[in-house]
Amino acid sequence: MKTSNYLVSLLLLISSLVVALAGSFHQEFDITWGYDRVKILENGQLLTLSLDRTSGSGFKSKRQYMFGKIDMKIKLVPGNSAGTATTYYLSSLGPTHDEIDFEFLGNVSGEPYILHTNVYTQGKGDKEQQFYLWFDPTKDFHTYSILWNPRSIIFSVDGTPIRQFKNLEATNGIPFPKNQPMWLYSSLWNAEGWATRGGLVKTDWSKSPFIASYRNFNAQTCVSSSFCSKNSTSNSWMNESLDNSGQARIKWVQKNYMIYNYCTDTKRFPQGFPRECSLN
Ligand SMILES: *[C@@H]1O[C@H](CO)[C@@H](O)[C@H](O)[C@H]1NC(C)=O
Ligand SMILES: *[C@@H]1O[C@H](CO)[C@@H](O)[C@H](O)[C@H]1NC(C)=O
Ligand SMILES: *[C@@H]1O[C@H](CO)[C@@H](O)[C@H](O)[C@H]1NC(C)=O
Repeated sequence: MKTSNYLVSLLLLISSLVVALAGSFHQEFDITWGYDRVKILENGQLLTLSLDRTSGSGFKSKRQYMFGKIDMKIKLVPGNSAGTATTYYLSSLGPTHDEIDFEFLGNVSGEPYILHTNVYTQGKGDKEQQFYLWFDPTKDFHTYSILWNPRSIIFSVDGTPIRQFKNLEATNGIPFPKNQPMWLYSSLWNAEGWATRGGLVKTDWSKSPFIASYRNFNAQTCVSSSFCSKNSTSNSWMNESLDNSGQARIKWVQKNYMIYNYCTDTKRFPQGFPRECSLN
């Protein structure tokens, strides 16, 4: 009796440990760069990246995704983060890769971070949009999300959509990422050549190590497009697109917080803007 009780509680303990580890940073990611500058803490629930004079650091998802809805809470490098860049992006492999980018460009204390976004299709990027945030991203964790489904790519911050890249391939022949699986990557690195005020403000290494923190990784994804068909009710995100209120919120963000848009950069596109600009 005693032995079997003991066994039952041991089994319960083991099964609860397995559940607790599910979705942990240990299980979902590999350290790709910076060795012990990547720390996984709190039983796999918190990850920190650090950057010092010698090296930055980074991680990559173990799984590949063929479409997905990905959320991560990130707390960016506090204080004087000038010259640092924290990246968080999906990317496939090879010269004709697809990529969906969030990059956070640091600043001196009290001055705003820039959230830089880009989309690459078949190796071609050049679709930058940049934003200030409506909060201090170093004080708390905030949720940065990428929705990538066959209809569109939507970047969101704390549930507010900030950018959409629609799938206009069938209707307008504009390439859309839909055939190559992507991995999730994140890194913290030295970008003092360009990150802060275009490279004018350098990193203050006396403030290093610089630390960015990650929590609550959540991914609803498919391993292949056939495995996750559009009509599956459990994968309603596969059919998600911006409704009217989402459209209104994107307009609000773009009006008040957007600081750069390739679609309005006449110097860069003297021959006319890329076609998706008038359609997104
Ligand atoms: C840093 O602050 C300056 C001054 O407010 C601002 O012009 C710049 O856009 C900010 N962000 C970055 C990443 O340079
Ligand atoms: C997907 O969305 C479209 C348009 O919003 C709708 O007509 C269609 O029924 C949806 N399909 C599923 C499976 O939810
Ligand atoms: C879902 O879609 C697949 C092909 O995309 C089809 O074979 C299957 O019958 C559909 N299931 C339902 C319930 O409509």
